[in-house]
Amino acid sequence: MANRQPAEDWPFEISPLSPLMAAAVTGFDAATPIDDFARDSILEALGRFKVLVLRNQDLAPAAQAAFTRRFGELEPHVNREFRGNAVPEVHPVNNLDEDGKPARGRNIGNYSWHTDKSYMPRPSLATMLYAVTLPPAGGDTEFADMQAAYAALPERRKTELADIRIVHSWERSRQKNGSRLATAQEILDAPPVTHPLIRTHPMTGLKGLYIGNHTSHVEGWPVDKGEALLQELEDFATQDRFVYRHRWQSGDMVIWDNCSLLHRAVDNYDIEAHIRILNRTVVRGSVPI
Ligand code: SIN
Repeated sequence: MANRQPAEDWPFEISPLSPLMAAAVTGFDAATPIDDFARDSILEALGRFKVLVLRNQDLAPAAQAAFTRRFGELEPHVNREFRGNAVPEVHPVNNLDEDGKPARGRNIGNYSWHTDKSYMPRPSLATMLYAVTLPPAGGDTEFADMQAAYAALPERRKTELADIRIVHSWERSRQKNGSRLATAQEILDAPPVTHPLIRTHPMTGLKGLYIGNHTSHVEGWPVDKGEALLQELEDFATQDRFVYRHRWQSGDMVIWDNCSLLHRAVDNYDIEAHIRILNRTVVRGSVPI
């Protein structure tokens, strides 16, 4: 098994979900320990489809953490409220208040376009999100393809953007999306970092925009001018033609590539009436270049 090259003989069935990106994976059990070939096949499929939807999973938090760990180092959340779980690297994504009732306000930052942990020096390679409890309808997640958006820019614009660096900041992100403000400890844990605006994918070598709500400003530019550029690029890159919307099914675990995508939760269900719970694990990535 170890000598086989993952390619078309992936140890699962795969069916594209849209012409742009995303594929459903069946015949694969993420709760059972996987060998290197299966892991490499998942990575190769992720490089090709950017979003993988593993259907029919049954994943306790410890099993999800063990599966995720096969792909690299798990990251704790900067938000220390999420660290008190039985498996601290499994972050709860839900709309529950302190009394366990559905409410607006929790995880509100997820409704803005972002790429996970871009405010860190080594942002996330991939995120795995497992559906625990879904609302009867809606509660979708959208993904926008930053490589397709970059490819669609005029060549002159690509040249203008080539050497720009962007400051990403947890503190600024919290201010922008209306969440509770970052604590002093969180600001110490995640001071601002700079990354290239045009990111080269660590596995495929393709170029894409590296933007989203965790961006603060353009390095060396007046703040207003930089914010205007970031907004212009986000508006361009999140047009419908670059977006896949995932409509969750029970048993789905979605894996996505943070190096080439933005994502956001969609507010298309009655958030104060229905419970939505997902468990998230995040694999640490490399320094963006
Ligand atoms: C996330 O942004 O990590 C979660 C997205 C979602 O809740 O759909």
